[in-house]
Amino acid sequence: MDAAALSLNYADSKRANLGRVDQSFYRNLLCSVGNRVLFVGEGNFSFTVAFAAMRKKESGEEDIWGGILATRFEDVGFDYPPVALSQAKIECVESVLKNYKKGGVRGDPQKAMEKIQAVSCLPELKPTEEWLYGIDARALKSELINRFTIIWFQCPWANSVGQLILDFLLNMVRVDLNSGCFVCIGITKKFPYIKNYYLENILGRGLSCDGTTEVLKKYDFMGADDTFIKEIISYGYRHQGLRDIHDDIFDHHVTLVFKKKQPEATQNKKRSSSSHMESERPQKKNQ
Ligand SMILES: C[S@@+](CC[C@H](N)C(=O)[O-])C[C@H]1O[C@@H](n2cnc3c(N)ncnc32)[C@H](O)[C@@H]1O
Repeated sequence: MDAAALSLNYADSKRANLGRVDQSFYRNLLCSVGNRVLFVGEGNFSFTVAFAAMRKKESGEEDIWGGILATRFEDVGFDYPPVALSQAKIECVESVLKNYKKGGVRGDPQKAMEKIQAVSCLPELKPTEEWLYGIDARALKSELINRFTIIWFQCPWANSVGQLILDFLLNMVRVDLNSGCFVCIGITKKFPYIKNYYLENILGRGLSCDGTTEVLKKYDFMGADDTFIKEIISYGYRHQGLRDIHDDIFDHHVTLVFKKKQPEATQNKKRSSSSHMESERPQKKNQ
């Protein structure tokens, strides 16, 4: 097994190794403004803002919001007011400062200042870039998602979170996401929380990633990652949940990355043309 594999204790006495995502995914894809990202299931929008700040700093691009759209499940109401960009920026800046005070790898003052500056300098949202409310990750429409290269559900949680994640992915199977596009899900690997995801329903028995589940018929599993979370936290992402588990996230988070396969017909065509070529070769040789 790959020495760099990520070991997960995903259910009672069940452990599996998942391959790691190629690091170029982060540098080339996530930081490149050309790859439009749709975030679903946001809470305080600090993930979105930290991501935008990271992208802006890495790419130097001014029009940063043109490539990012954030959405929340809860519609706007008395209990769920809309979140202003300025509010989310404050959340991120406070979070960077909290990280800094914790010291250790997060306590570099120069880096903390750079991150605060990156967050503070983010431009305003244009009307067409405003965050959307009342968006159900289980019912995303092709018209919305087919404008994006990456669809990201960060730390999904609900009473039946395993069902929520499965329904989200099955919806991604049904809709018209272009082949080559990515779906990312950020989860905790902390036991026993991880049991609630029922990862076998997505990745197959023993997390074998053998392509037998409905999700893996349409998506290749690219692997898991536990490094990007540290980067995004350094820009002020602060997990929002029913319980404050933010401090666990730094050490216990993984991102699962899926890539949409080519449509079956194209795959078959490719296969048949390559097998055609294969069968031609010996014939030519014999001529
Ligand atoms: C633990 S919170 C994480 C919030 C935010 N993504 C973060 O990382 O801070 C779980 C989120 O899942 C969202 N959620 C639950 N059911 C959902 C659904 N059907 N569609 C989209 N989001 C959903 C909740 O609204 C909540 O914001």
